[in-house]
Amino acid sequence: MIILGIETSCDETAVAVLEVTKTKLTVKSSAVSSQIKKHKQYGGVVPEVAARNHMQNMMPILQHALDQAGVGKEAIELVAATYGPGLATSLMVGLETGKSLAFALNIPFVAVNHMAGHVFSWLLPKQIGETVLLPELEYPFLALLVSGGHTQLVKVHSAVQYELLGNTVDDAVGEAFDKVARMMKLPYPGGPEVSRLALNGDATAFELPRPMLHSKDLNFSFAGLKTAVLYALRKQAVTEKIIADMCASFQTAAVEVLIKKTLQAVSQHNISLVTVAGGVSANQFLREQLQGQLKQQKQEPHCTFPELQYTGDNGAMIALAGYIQYQNAGPTKKYQTLSVKPNLSLA
Ligand code: KG4
Ligand code: ZN
Repeated sequence: MIILGIETSCDETAVAVLEVTKTKLTVKSSAVSSQIKKHKQYGGVVPEVAARNHMQNMMPILQHALDQAGVGKEAIELVAATYGPGLATSLMVGLETGKSLAFALNIPFVAVNHMAGHVFSWLLPKQIGETVLLPELEYPFLALLVSGGHTQLVKVHSAVQYELLGNTVDDAVGEAFDKVARMMKLPYPGGPEVSRLALNGDATAFELPRPMLHSKDLNFSFAGLKTAVLYALRKQAVTEKIIADMCASFQTAAVEVLIKKTLQAVSQHNISLVTVAGGVSANQFLREQLQGQLKQQKQEPHCTFPELQYTGDNGAMIALAGYIQYQNAGPTKKYQTLSVKPNLSLA
């Protein structure tokens, strides 16, 4: 089956074409137009600017994805598009494009939860055109979803059944990376900058809090950590050395909390597979630390991460999650009247 996936929930206009059979998966194309440069000057995503850019980019990106895949519109057999969560006006562009295409081509449509896209992104192969086996998924598995808008521990019972085990009570971890970077006048998005500079920093230079580390639940909090960074930085001149040390100290504190709660979920729910996804899953320190610590667990759960190009928002993950959803629950009924759901949750 040839699937077209469309993603416009935030600041990436993304379209991909996948070919999937019961056992095999090929990403035929994955086009992502990032607006990061446009939003950099504002230090974050401006919704009106994002929506206007999606409108301008949508058709060229769609055509590019089809050209790269070497297929025409008439070859598409299923359209999948993100309908939430995200910025309302951004979501509208992708959802309406997907609905119109499905309607015009008279083919089924699936509305996909953006976070479900992240959940299955570890299955996507590294190379465009490479065919890999689509494994029989063993449920339940645990997903740590870490992005600019989310920090969640989700128990995935099936393609259409999710249980929210833990959530952030304030900032998302990616948002904390971005805000801390901004305090040190580092460019947006802050995550990649902070993790790069942390390589040369001393993680013990600043004693930062690990909010909710010992709370019995699986929730997270990053606001206090962010504020602690602000106060610590106010106490001295912010030199290059201080910045590197702060990046390392902050990253270590944030990752420690993510890992502790993930390990707690693993043992409480007897998990044998953990996947980490979303923009922050690109973080190398998080990858290494989590893998190392999971190995020491009694049940030694298997740990997977998406390929780097699929950690951030992309159309391929939406096409794949759409396909899995379609196989399990069929197409979205009466999709013509479906509108975007900016606050959509997984559970
Ligand atoms: O999933 P994503 O591309 O967009 C959504 O928020 O949905 O995630 C973007 C977030 C940003 O906050 C960015 O700073 C963070 O992911 N990020 C990272 C790294 N790369 C991206 N955070 C920490 N370390 C990284 N290497
Ligand atoms: Zn995302």
